[in-house]
Amino acid sequence: MKLERLPPVRTSLQPTNHPYLTGAWTPLHEEVNAEDLQVLEGAIPTDIDGVYVRNTENQAHQPLGRYHPFDGDGMLHMISFKDGKADYRNRFIRTRCFEAEQEAGQSLWGGLADGPGVSVRPGFGAHGSLKDSSSTDVVAHGGKIVSTFYQCGEAYWLDPETLEQGGVASWAPLDGVSAHTKVDEATGELLFFNYSKQAPYMHYGVVDKDGKRVHYTPVPLLGPRLPHDMAFSANYSILNDFPVFWDQDLLAQNIHVVRMHEGLPSRFAVIPRYGSEADIRWFEAAPTYVLHWLNAYEDGDELVMDGYFQEDPCPAPLADAPRGLAHMMAYLDEHSFKPKLHRWRFNLKTGETREHHLDDRILEFGMFNQRYAGKPYRYAYSTTT
Ligand SMILES: [Fe+2]
Repeated sequence: MKLERLPPVRTSLQPTNHPYLTGAWTPLHEEVNAEDLQVLEGAIPTDIDGVYVRNTENQAHQPLGRYHPFDGDGMLHMISFKDGKADYRNRFIRTRCFEAEQEAGQSLWGGLADGPGVSVRPGFGAHGSLKDSSSTDVVAHGGKIVSTFYQCGEAYWLDPETLEQGGVASWAPLDGVSAHTKVDEATGELLFFNYSKQAPYMHYGVVDKDGKRVHYTPVPLLGPRLPHDMAFSANYSILNDFPVFWDQDLLAQNIHVVRMHEGLPSRFAVIPRYGSEADIRWFEAAPTYVLHWLNAYEDGDELVMDGYFQEDPCPAPLADAPRGLAHMMAYLDEHSFKPKLHRWRFNLKTGETREHHLDDRILEFGMFNQRYAGKPYRYAYSTTT
């Protein structure tokens, strides 16, 4: 194996016993290129030719306030396979915020668990006082890697073979881009959405296979919401408005507390891929929150959508958590939410919704063969804990 260490990044992180900065969560600060990795067991099949990339959170600087694991600076890890050999490299994503904190040699933004007064600089995205760390998600589109942040940061481009930084994706709108953009491998299009605290509160857009934004339209909501993911079929995109969102009275005082709004249904916006506001059809369903969708497809008059229905979207604080972290840890534990694989069927003729669980186990974050994205499919692979 040949190992090349890159010049070190600046870090000011102090020793800590924070559960999300230690153990398996210990931030990695070193960037390397490792060629021809040693195979400890078996052999790498010679017919695998491609890259596996994942996004992670690695806090570079001492937090200004209470660290939340979603605050950590985005870092891509890549293993590339060819001719029975494997190479590895990793890179921090050079977001504007990462570069600003490198220059300052310290944190400039508070985190998700902090009050708005903690940040030293104006924040980015939907929340308004956070750092854009581009650490949530990564997809391949138009010959590039696209990394995104769940609070609607700027989408960043990187090269899929070298992880060379490509800066802000030219198609990204000023309103930002949420995590979980979707790539339709049948057409090469990328579908995305964003959300904010300002009306119309949500937008939806399409980027063509060459990386050019070709569609962008408002999806007006009744107020600020917290969507995390979207779904699509061959002809439709599906955006969501769940009754789990910021307490409006507290939000008026710039305090961010998420709660279930009893009496409100889950709402789904079904929009033709190139549809505008007037084409949106709204469907209602049982109240819940869904962090991640699996797939959607058309079946006669019905649009079928699968995702992980949370039976307890606002879980109680975790009883055995370290002091001050009981709420945070409950919200990071899949078992608290009780997500179950669920199927919604939206009848495009009658406007009716039918829905049921597909499985009673606690499951989340499913993957399936992306050649079947937007089409009927048989197999999915979900995480459990
Ligand atoms: Fe996610």
